[in-house]
Amino acid sequence: MELGKRAAVVTGSAAGIGRGLCVGLAERGYDIVGFDVDADGNAEMADLVRSVGRDVLALTCDVGDAAQVRSAADEAIKRFGRVDVLINNAAVWNDTRLTAGSYDTQVRAFSDALGACSSGAFHCATALVPAMREAGGGDIVNILTDHVLAGHFITGLPATGYDCAKFSLWRLTESWAVELAPFGIRVNGLAFGATDTPMLRGVSPAMADAGMRPSDIAQAVANVLEHGRGGPTGRTYAFGMSRASRAEHLAGIAAIAEISED
Ligand SMILES: NC(=O)c1ccc[n+]([C@@H]2O[C@H](COP(=O)([O-])OP(=O)(O)OC[C@H]3O[C@@H](n4cnc5c(N)ncnc54)[C@H](O)[C@@H]3O)[C@@H](O)[C@H]2O)c1
Repeated sequence: MELGKRAAVVTGSAAGIGRGLCVGLAERGYDIVGFDVDADGNAEMADLVRSVGRDVLALTCDVGDAAQVRSAADEAIKRFGRVDVLINNAAVWNDTRLTAGSYDTQVRAFSDALGACSSGAFHCATALVPAMREAGGGDIVNILTDHVLAGHFITGLPATGYDCAKFSLWRLTESWAVELAPFGIRVNGLAFGATDTPMLRGVSPAMADAGMRPSDIAQAVANVLEHGRGGPTGRTYAFGMSRASRAEHLAGIAAIAEISED
């Protein structure tokens, strides 16, 4: 292990925001470990990280599978000797309506939605917090959504499993922040709206065109990380609401940097 090097684990690293987070953190000096079910997309992410001069491990891993996360986390720690940052970004937007599909398809879809997002985050945190404790601290950033914020329109959306997963990840954010504060591990969440990724393009190309870019979310994560060890924990940073302008999105991201203490 090279002294002074920092390593970040990003879930859902192969595409969209996760890929943007990997590249954005690499540009800011982190070595990257990406967990994703999409091996080809993850290999492309790895090439991008190497092109900005950082080391990278692209691991094929379904974060909803506890055994796969255990072995991927072990491989990450073996390779880099440490993990400073965990970003729980993986999620699945799928149809979990009670009025669609069959019993088997909807039960499977609900399980996939919770597996990728809330169980996946729990698996990753459980596997990696011991390494953070050993290093004297770290950061967990949970990628939420503006759906968890008061006033968000819910009725009629098909992705109830996605929303359940995000609400539970929100609660884990708050609870873990309390549990892990004595160990110097901060836990914060980002709740934001439309961002141009394959997930959103599949739902609404118009919203994707008007939305933020994955690099904007990387800047938001960087602003949270730059608060450092004494910085706020247990926060949910809200920005990038879907009907706001791009200038308002960027101002909301910049405002994260201004908050320096609890
Ligand atoms: N795109 C938006 O408008 C938007 C808005 C708010 C929040 N978010 C959140 O940002 C995050 C990333 O979203 P995105 O739009 O980039 O999605 P995306 O679908 O474009 O990419 C998600 C990535 O996660 C991977 N993944 C899915 N299930 C997995 C699993 N079980 N294990 C490992 N990897 C898995 C996919 O293979 C894919 O590479 C999600 O948490 C999403 O809820 C997105």
